[in-house]
Amino acid sequence: MSEENLPTTSPTPHKRRKRYSGKNPRRFEEKYKEHGSDTATIAKVVAAGKTPAGTHRPIMVAEILAALAPQPGEIAVDGTLGYGGHAQEILAKILPSGKLLGLDHDPIELPKTEARLRTLGFNETVFTAHRSNFAGLPQILAAQEIAGADLILADLGVSSMQIDDPARGFSVKFSGPLDMRMNPQRGQPVSALLEKILPAALAQLLMQNADEPKAVQLGAALAGKKFTTTHELAEAIRAALPLVPKEEHHLNIRRTFQALRIAVNDEFSALENFLRNLPACLKPNGRVAILTFHSGEDRRVKKAFIDGQRDGIYSEISIEIVRASAEEQRSNPRSASAKLRWARRANN
Ligand SMILES: C[S@@+](CC[C@H](N)C(=O)[O-])C[C@H]1O[C@@H](n2cnc3c(N)ncnc32)[C@H](O)[C@@H]1O
Repeated sequence: MSEENLPTTSPTPHKRRKRYSGKNPRRFEEKYKEHGSDTATIAKVVAAGKTPAGTHRPIMVAEILAALAPQPGEIAVDGTLGYGGHAQEILAKILPSGKLLGLDHDPIELPKTEARLRTLGFNETVFTAHRSNFAGLPQILAAQEIAGADLILADLGVSSMQIDDPARGFSVKFSGPLDMRMNPQRGQPVSALLEKILPAALAQLLMQNADEPKAVQLGAALAGKKFTTTHELAEAIRAALPLVPKEEHHLNIRRTFQALRIAVNDEFSALENFLRNLPACLKPNGRVAILTFHSGEDRRVKKAFIDGQRDGIYSEISIEIVRASAEEQRSNPRSASAKLRWARRANN
């Protein structure tokens, strides 16, 4: 080989994937067969009642489709695109001439979902992805010159991809940096919030966002402290509650994590803005369905729908909360706390 034909850079040495110990992978990043869409592995994980790593199983799909009744040619909005599970089902109903706008404020997962839906054949004419908070839906619709949507879905909270990835800092099970932001480009991580907050303010936040009964004790123990990882925080919660039986600590930990996540993502203000904007974003007779996962969210949705019906904005609203079937709750435990409410905009 002459000198000029020699490669200018040395070839990248082939790196073998680090083998996990034991029969099955335990850590999120070791589950490469699930991340890599190995269909046989994914089917096995789902059959075992688990969510494959790097994916999200959509909740109450049949109930949501019944509430939204998508028809060919309609304009749909999925305000919380996530993995695109619901979006995919809605798209199948509104094609060929319909269009779905998918919004999500997560800059890490959104491009992956957009790529996934493109490989399923949904091109720019029928599906567009928008990195946006759903509170900004009126601006997104205006930019697309869409006067109103026929149907709007919001499936609140975090996706399995976000919770299960320790690097995002939501996981109690596997330690990671104490962050919990769905959009890490905005706001502050939980570690910064805890370092600055005063005990009384933290106690109030724990009470308001998660009805935590030990809010005062936890406020005193955690406020102003520096925690770097999710495990350090969980450990400090256990240590702060010596009189609570050890087997109940996971509940205090879960509620504290939930309250802090709601705070750093400003979840209640986003939901309130979204609910306020909804009527203007829906066409006459347009339908909206909202899946919530805790009482603070459900209270706000219920009130907005009841007030809207009283004021003649909605012609019909769900009377009862719709819940996941016993079978779905068994096969996907994450559906157990889900509550679905829907409303139909009046024809005016
Ligand atoms: C429960 S997941 C949705 C899963 C989705 N329905 C599916 O089938 O894959 C919630 C998603 O909503 C996003 N999200 C939460 N709050 C949001 C907000 N205020 N604006 C935009 N996206 C939001 C999260 O980043 C997450 O991806």
